Amino acid sequence: MIETVTGLPALRARVSAWKREGLRVGLVPTMGNLHAGHFSLVKLAREHADRVVASVFVNPTQFGPNEDFDRYPRTPEADAAGLEAAGCDLVWLPSVEQMYPFGADNAVRMRVPGITDVLDGAHRPGHFDGVVTVVSRLFNQVLPDVAAFGRKDYQQLAVIRYFVRDLAFPVELLPADIVREADGLALSSRNQYLSAEERVVAPTIHRTLLAMRESAQAGTPRAGVEAQARAMLEGAGFVVDYAVVRDRQLAEPEDSRGDRVALIAARLGATRLIDNLEFTL
Ligand code: PAF
Repeated sequence: MIETVTGLPALRARVSAWKREGLRVGLVPTMGNLHAGHFSLVKLAREHADRVVASVFVNPTQFGPNEDFDRYPRTPEADAAGLEAAGCDLVWLPSVEQMYPFGADNAVRMRVPGITDVLDGAHRPGHFDGVVTVVSRLFNQVLPDVAAFGRKDYQQLAVIRYFVRDLAFPVELLPADIVREADGLALSSRNQYLSAEERVVAPTIHRTLLAMRESAQAGTPRAGVEAQARAMLEGAGFVVDYAVVRDRQLAEPEDSRGDRVALIAARLGATRLIDNLEFTL
């Protein structure tokens, strides 16, 4: 059975023993309720490290007051079994008190400027502050050489790249490709909130991203691509937070050619889904 540690001294003892042996340590930060997307992060980390730690922590500081912190699915036994099968070596399962010794409300908070003002940063105020607040702690706790993050959370990855570079964390980031269901729906722990009817509609997000790429590559101006995308999503029953084309730094593109990413955040009933597609014009 895979080892699970819940106290910081035990975690530090395990990691320093590995480091004394000269082993490289990989970290996969998660909020649990793991699926094949997370296991692909473990596999990627394994390719770049000798030992892999997965953290499982539903982080209160990255949820807004009306978001799904309380109902976020918590499945620690299934997570441990899945992590073991995926080749993980250790589960770091801290309590809120371990993570935030002065309490979540009194934690030293981090904030990344600029890139967090747009898209999910604008729609979920404080969300990315909470993400970097916890990821900086996870890096200090685990002291990983490499850490894997999924490309599905495109903006999160950009924010983490920024803060790792700005604060000179000695961690190499490993971006992992999006894992999708056969019908295109990106894997997410939130997919299980969907009713059977909503689940049938949900892949419209991926179809819309493909249509955005096709339309942009056919020369449709950006405003037209975005308007078509919004109409497609609204027609299927989504409430759209954003459906946009940006450059890879999430700025509004100025040139007619270059690297792009189409990003969607849209709500179906009470469930908010995000997805993105990178392409080149
Ligand atoms: O992507 C997530 O699951 C979370 O935002 C992370 C990186 C584990 C921080 O809580």
